[in-house]
Amino acid sequence: MVSTTDSIATQVGVEVLKNGGNAVDAACAAALAIGVTEGFSSGIGGGCFIVIHMADGRETAVDGRETAPKKSSRLMYVPKDTTKPSNLSTTGVLAAGTPGELAALEAAVRQYGRLPFEELVERAAAIADTGFILDDQYERALDRYTDKLSQFEGSRAVYFHEDGTPLKRGERLLQKDLAATLRRVCQEGLDGYYRGEVPRLIGQYVRGNGGVLSAADFENYKPLMREPVRGSYRGYNVISMPPPSSGGIHVIQILNLLEPYDLSYFGPGSSETIHLTTEAMQIAFADRAEFLGDPAFTEVPVQGLISKEYAAEWRSLISSVQHAELAGAGRPQDFSGTAEQHPDEKHTTHISVADGEGNAVALTTTLNTPFGSGVIVPGTGVLLNNQMDDFVTWPGRPNYFGLVGNAANEIEPGKRPLSSMAPTILLKDSQPYLVIGSYGGPRIITSTVLSIINVLDFDLPLQAAVDYPRWHHQWVPDRLFLEPDHPFDVQMGLRQRGHRIEVQSRWAGVTAVMSDEERGGWRGAADSRTTGLAAGF
Ligand code: DON
Repeated sequence: MVSTTDSIATQVGVEVLKNGGNAVDAACAAALAIGVTEGFSSGIGGGCFIVIHMADGRETAVDGRETAPKKSSRLMYVPKDTTKPSNLSTTGVLAAGTPGELAALEAAVRQYGRLPFEELVERAAAIADTGFILDDQYERALDRYTDKLSQFEGSRAVYFHEDGTPLKRGERLLQKDLAATLRRVCQEGLDGYYRGEVPRLIGQYVRGNGGVLSAADFENYKPLMREPVRGSYRGYNVISMPPPSSGGIHVIQILNLLEPYDLSYFGPGSSETIHLTTEAMQIAFADRAEFLGDPAFTEVPVQGLISKEYAAEWRSLISSVQHAELAGAGRPQDFSGTAEQHPDEKHTTHISVADGEGNAVALTTTLNTPFGSGVIVPGTGVLLNNQMDDFVTWPGRPNYFGLVGNAANEIEPGKRPLSSMAPTILLKDSQPYLVIGSYGGPRIITSTVLSIINVLDFDLPLQAAVDYPRWHHQWVPDRLFLEPDHPFDVQMGLRQRGHRIEVQSRWAGVTAVMSDEERGGWRGAADSRTTGLAAGF
């Protein structure tokens, strides 16, 4: 069973499974394909995290996060005139970190897959080469980002007509240069992307346009195999992505905070449930701003943050009748440093796969914001990420998602920017039970948690669990964001508890696969907020 936010990518994943691939092959093939069909969300110019559970018990978390280029520096995005807005960390070549996507996918397939990596890459190359028909989602994305994309010749050449207007739904998007780059990888392996002509062209273009990412950064890039973070919730084991993502830690922390409450008594979407989960969310985000960063550069008190005891300490501050105004983070046990302080929006994508042998893969991949930096490097077809904006780019100033942070997440060469991505697998009796994740910046964390409790506490069918109306709190600003579908009396109950409510249009997109205990096999669901598809055989 494969669930992604794009029907072509899901079909590629299913074909790979049918052709003898396992869940790792299928997830990586789907990621490569979606980098072509939903190139505004992810691609080989970006990065990813992959959480893998193999039927033989092996588990790993592959870190394909971008790294800050060697020539980057702490204050590189702070303009001389700080009264003028600067978009250098989100738009243009200076916004790009060293891409890790392809190296991580290759490492995952080489160690845990069964099929030759090149075979999976060729499937994506073929789609880039022969093209696909744009849907209304893609048209809207192009319309919204016309100003950004039209600044860059490589992007104009791919996404625009000769008269300067963006392509429309029903038209075919061809990505010939991207197909050639992918085919170079089919022939030369990873070196086809990380050494030689492609990084040379990228380095040269970036340098010529005021950026710092160089061919040497590509040559030095290494994906890392990490231990997943592990927790438990109501008897299920949870494995998820460790730092440099905050995702896994905070999914586990929020579940720990909620575990003693009988949420099922209150019901899904009740003011009691929304209140308690919100209090837990804001605690997690206060800790995120304080403690989280790349573990190679900062001491992250992981075990303390995910411990049940730490959750119990924080829980004493949760009142069932009053929203707490949190001044700052807590004191996890293994933390010996000092203290400090974060708001939000969209694109990125999540892939959940499980196969018939009991292997399961949760993979979240991103360019950061829609179309990343906006720059397709001419001659390569590579759309560069703007993941540098996930760092604290301007001390004290919130990033694109309104997230704040401190020195733990400041820019240093080689460092990986802090992420919220939370590819997560829940196991029951050591067998995969739920494979899940989302896009949505910081809302990844809260959307993933809410979908999990909708399944485990409220027993909702998987599709209903991921479609259910959401809420989100990220500590700063002190605002309870609600999707539009929550009834008036529920909102009143929340206001009475002191919540400051802001209703926003629906957000994030969860894709999930779950064990079908009645019939055997797997069920899948793709969020109705996206154009996704879950399919299997
Ligand atoms: O790693 C992160 O947390 C962000 N770069 C993810 C961005 C995202 O999910 C945008 N999606 N809507």
